[in-house]
Amino acid sequence: MRDSRETFVNHAFVTGYPIKHSRSPLIHGYWLRKFGLEGSYKAHEVKPEDFPAFMNALRDGSAGFCGGNVTIPHKEAAFRLADRLDEHAAELGAANTLWLEEGEIRATNTDGLGFVANLDERALGWDRISTAVVLGAGGASRAVIQAVRDRGIKTIHVVNRTEMRARELADRFGAAVRPHPMAALSEVMAGAGLFVNTTSLGMDGEPAPQIDFSPLSGEAVVTDIVYVPLKTPLLRQAEEQGFRIVDGLGMLLHQAVPGFEKWFGRRPLVDEQLRQIIINDM
Ligand code: ATR
Repeated sequence: MRDSRETFVNHAFVTGYPIKHSRSPLIHGYWLRKFGLEGSYKAHEVKPEDFPAFMNALRDGSAGFCGGNVTIPHKEAAFRLADRLDEHAAELGAANTLWLEEGEIRATNTDGLGFVANLDERALGWDRISTAVVLGAGGASRAVIQAVRDRGIKTIHVVNRTEMRARELADRFGAAVRPHPMAALSEVMAGAGLFVNTTSLGMDGEPAPQIDFSPLSGEAVVTDIVYVPLKTPLLRQAEEQGFRIVDGLGMLLHQAVPGFEKWFGRRPLVDEQLRQIIINDM
């Protein structure tokens, strides 16, 4: 039986390979200080070949953690090795948040929730949007598509350089998702109320392609899940063309909320001070 006077201090991790560029320790460190909690949240590098052993050590308690975040390249392995998945992780085939409960590793994926919360915060009127355009068909795109579909958007055009990958997402997420090649971009933008970039276009040293956003609905919001720089080349173009833009930093901050609440028992707020801490670190 536990001594009731004993205080439990929880320790959480973010693991990936490499992991040193993760901003998650800054986010959770800010919240721990804000609540005056003694717990910790640390970057913990694990090589892919060592990840199964890490999961075992997490489960049996020898790792000393109550849970944590997983990022590239461990999200799919975390999905496979967790003992119980919620519906978000199960459908996405990837997990980013783990916690111990009743001796099991439980897993969810909070990326989609973070995406939606970021737009909610900027007062996106979801009811007014019936069509969204998602550029890209990688892991990040999946989370966005799931979240947008769950918000009731009827038509989601997924446009990707490799059309096959967009088709795979249509198979996974059902009839709302329409796959297209890049050449169809302008056509499918017609009247859409939300445009989401999930690719690294314009970020890899190559100049960003010029996108004509004018076919979108006049009230459309253009957002990017890349947040370095805050105003990505595509967001800059959209703003110059008179569209409302939402940067991707809020997605990073909001996706961290459910994990903190699981590990430390308090629901944190995404405030301006936290945003500034991350911006100053860029
Ligand atoms: P993530 O998990 O971050 O989404 P990913 O799975 O590597 O990363 O997916 C990257 C996405 O950006 C893909 O949709 C990719 O297109 P392909 O499926 O054709 O590879 C897209 N992408 C990356 N660089 C691109 C470029 N220069 N032009 C067009 N699309 C690009």
